[in-house]
Amino acid sequence: MNAVLKPRLTYRPMRLEDIDAIMAIEKTIYPFPWTTGNFVDSLASGYSAWVCLEGGVMAGYAVMMQAIDEAQLLNISIAAERQRAGLGSELLEYLFATAKASGAVRMLLEVRPSNVAGCALYRRCGFKEIGRRRGYYPAHGGREDAIVMERAL
Ligand SMILES: CC(C)(COP(=O)(O)OP(=O)(O)OC[C@H]1O[C@@H](n2cnc3c(N)ncnc32)[C@H](O)[C@@H]1OP(=O)(O)O)[C@@H](O)C(=O)NCCC(=O)NCCS
Repeated sequence: MNAVLKPRLTYRPMRLEDIDAIMAIEKTIYPFPWTTGNFVDSLASGYSAWVCLEGGVMAGYAVMMQAIDEAQLLNISIAAERQRAGLGSELLEYLFATAKASGAVRMLLEVRPSNVAGCALYRRCGFKEIGRRRGYYPAHGGREDAIVMERAL
């Protein structure tokens, strides 16, 4: 069990200069990674985008889009070598607090059913499945559904 008793991460807003380091992580942890352009566009759109650091080193990052009282989690990532040590949960808790402080009352996200780690993290952190989008994601050899999940903040 990896219960986080003491925060280990520090946070700062994502900057354009972070994107090369982010892409180095992104390409190693997703079968279909975001592109540099996706991160550039997220920053240009003013999305809530964060980098988290452990011991001064980038451990992960996240991007959220907020519309009035609803936050949509678009990307949450922990570097491969730091996974399964409680950092994803800690980052998610930070995003809950940040979204809530900006007036969000619920958080929504989409996840691939094949993403065992993502699905398990979200369920453990209180998300519930509220629907499916058929064939939403590109997948090797076809398309894959998205599970839509929601959590009250
Ligand atoms: C999903 C992700 C952010 C989780 O980060 P993490 O730091 O490894 O998560 P934690 O250590 O906080 O794990 C919390 C819980 O999630 C579940 N979990 C995490 N990784 C898991 C895995 N590989 N297999 C099964 N369950 C897993 C477990 O329940 C875990 O609790 P436990 O370790 O006490 O059993 C990370 O695996 C990641 O960056 N994956 C690639 C990017 C991604 O898929 N992001 C989500 C897109 S929707």
